Amino acid sequence: MALIQIADLTKIYGEGAAATPALAGVSCAVERGEYVAVMGPSGSGKSTFLHILGLLDRPTSGSYVLDGASVAELDDDVLARLRNERIGFIFQQFNLLPRATVRENVQLPLLYSNVPEREWPAIIERAVARVGLMQRMEHTRAQLSGGEQQRVAIARALARDPQIIFADEPTGNLDSASGRQVMELLEQLHADGHTIMLITHEQATAEHAQRILRLHDGHLESDTRVAQRRTAAQFTR
Ligand SMILES: Nc1ncnc2c1ncn2[C@@H]1O[C@H](COP(=O)(O)OP(=O)(O)O)[C@@H](O)[C@H]1O
Ligand SMILES: [Mg+2]
Repeated sequence: MALIQIADLTKIYGEGAAATPALAGVSCAVERGEYVAVMGPSGSGKSTFLHILGLLDRPTSGSYVLDGASVAELDDDVLARLRNERIGFIFQQFNLLPRATVRENVQLPLLYSNVPEREWPAIIERAVARVGLMQRMEHTRAQLSGGEQQRVAIARALARDPQIIFADEPTGNLDSASGRQVMELLEQLHADGHTIMLITHEQATAEHAQRILRLHDGHLESDTRVAQRRTAAQFTR
């Protein structure tokens, strides 16, 4: 069974005259270990789509089966636990805590977990080393460049070793060199077995993925394979 299986997913924001349909019946499946890019014009529903798949929001209708579990039947507590254990989210705006250190930011998902506290330092160090920022461990947001902030956000997403990583235009606020570093990290995480779904509006960035989903006005307009530039020996988790 696919890792992600959605059928006729809809999302309508607001009610009555203010009702805005953001997703108008999207169906697709994503297998374990896939690297999928999501493209489409501004307002086409990309962020809404990723937020629902990432359990940050619920659909108005339609079904979502995540790793065999029907998400609609899970209560908010179970959903929060699933999100904490299985999903890492990376945003365009980084979303770091302003006055907290790198260590404290990466620790955040552990605070909401049942991982014993004595294990936290090693987990945090592994995640921060993964993104190459060990020498910045006690720095706060103001002391970090944009690219470094996004790498901290990736370390935070990795703290629980998530099965799936969702990234919503993660290079949108970065200069091209920092953006390349972030894309390289995502490729390494994919090679490590994480399933990745990435929103981007740049074709060249999307071609890092194996597959491109295009949204238009809340509909899935196309679903295409990217010609592979390389073969990576991969295992999936
Ligand atoms: N919280 C919200 N409340 C009301 N409308 C929203 C909300 N979020 C998104 N929308 C609307 O839903 C549509 C899809 O938005 P979004 O998913 O953010 O698209 P994209 O990420 O592709 O730019 C847009 O028309 C947007 O204005
Ligand atoms: Mg968006």
